[in-house]
Amino acid sequence: MPRRDSAVPPRWSHSLGGVARRPCSILLPGTATLIEAKEIIGDIADEYEPPEPEPMRRIDPHTLEIDARRLTMAIRSAVSCRKRGHSEGASGRLANRQRERIMPPVESDEAGQISSRRRVKDMTGRAKITIIGGGNVGATCAHWAAAKELGDIVLVDIVEGMPQGKALDLRQASPIERFDCEIIGTNSYEDTAGSDVVIITSGLARKPGMSRDDLLAKNVEIVRSVTEQAARHSPEAVLIVVSNPLDAMVYTAWKASGFPTQRVVGQAGILDTARYRAFIAMELGCSVEDITALLLGGHGDDMVPLPSYTSVAGIPVTHLIAKDRLDAIVDRARKGGGEIVSLLKTGSAYYAPSAASVQMAEAIIKDKRRILPCAAYCDKEYGIGGYFVGVPCVLGRHGVEKVIEVPLAPDEKAAFQVSIDHVKELVAVAEKLLG
Ligand SMILES: NC(=O)c1ccc[n+]([C@@H]2O[C@H](COP(=O)([O-])OP(=O)(O)OC[C@H]3O[C@@H](n4cnc5c(N)ncnc54)[C@H](O)[C@@H]3O)[C@@H](O)[C@H]2O)c1
Repeated sequence: MPRRDSAVPPRWSHSLGGVARRPCSILLPGTATLIEAKEIIGDIADEYEPPEPEPMRRIDPHTLEIDARRLTMAIRSAVSCRKRGHSEGASGRLANRQRERIMPPVESDEAGQISSRRRVKDMTGRAKITIIGGGNVGATCAHWAAAKELGDIVLVDIVEGMPQGKALDLRQASPIERFDCEIIGTNSYEDTAGSDVVIITSGLARKPGMSRDDLLAKNVEIVRSVTEQAARHSPEAVLIVVSNPLDAMVYTAWKASGFPTQRVVGQAGILDTARYRAFIAMELGCSVEDITALLLGGHGDDMVPLPSYTSVAGIPVTHLIAKDRLDAIVDRARKGGGEIVSLLKTGSAYYAPSAASVQMAEAIIKDKRRILPCAAYCDKEYGIGGYFVGVPCVLGRHGVEKVIEVPLAPDEKAAFQVSIDHVKELVAVAEKLLG
């Protein structure tokens, strides 16, 4: 993962072009990069500048900090040397060679996409995120992830041209919104190789009158097939499953990938909690930022929002909202997905679901160890016995690092059990389909 150090000592900072002022140390992790960087800086500096001591500083055996001022000066010097007509000479050739090493020429296909052969990750240390399914949720995931500069993005869909078109369109937004990352659209899993995170959104979405469960048979087939292909090309990735019915699809992805349970997780709880939090903020006329909440169970209308674990700036929500109003909010949050489906008429929600999925990807890529409600594998936890169910868990670089168990009141326990039983029924059907 890239490391950016905002608290660099003055000696390692400089202003870029005299306009943008920001610390500009470059931290390069990895021994191979270190050797390469040494060659680049060392050779250029030797050729064009009086050597200064310590243009680079070793942070630890595997991390090198380069003084960006020296790097910029060396490149400028090489360029001006070329302009002065030295480009044909040995120095010019060296300058060209060095600049190409710093900024290799880009290989692109006829659609103007960066060739997957140029694995930018190798050079930049940026994370690689594959999003399977370039529909509403998948494409919007790409949008949020790009805007946050989470890493390089590969958008995959079965429809030819569509992911390529959306990726190119998003790429063209980057100069306006100022994000730097590679974004490619593809129909081939080869392009996904070596991903750190794979977000699975492929599959049918609900139409008015349908429940999430109605999608089961078709989506088991789709999620199994895409997971097998993605897992083969990215055996170390963390899978974030979004397709519905969520809890059964996480189970399907786990079976199809053969990954450890820790590296397979489903997105539902962040979305469901966000809906619940948004409704509380709307009721109180206060900022959503001040509302923290917890929700358990499967991603269905029997999910369990927990008022006992909901607070507004530290104040228990039960002190601020009357019971009947709070019950109505809980009910609306449970049916929040259906409310949007009936309004849209041609698909289901995607802004909030994709924002939630990208929040999970961010927690993993940046190893934030955030505590988020996710569909995680629970065996002994809550006595669930080997199913993926919505619970609070610590999400970090290795996926689900820990499931957190909280005490529940008898009525909360009973409601959670109803939800778990429903998940078990769906998984039993999925298991039959998986054969
Ligand atoms: N977990 C959640 O909180 C949550 C929230 C919203 C939607 N969803 C689910 O996410 C899924 C996607 O929703 P959407 O609104 O983006 O639907 P969508 O129809 O807009 O997009 C689905 C995409 O999947 C693609 N696809 C189908 N089969 C494929 C395959 N074999 N390989 C690659 N791509 C394939 C389709 O071509 C389509 O572009 C649905 O199952 C939906 O129910 C889950």
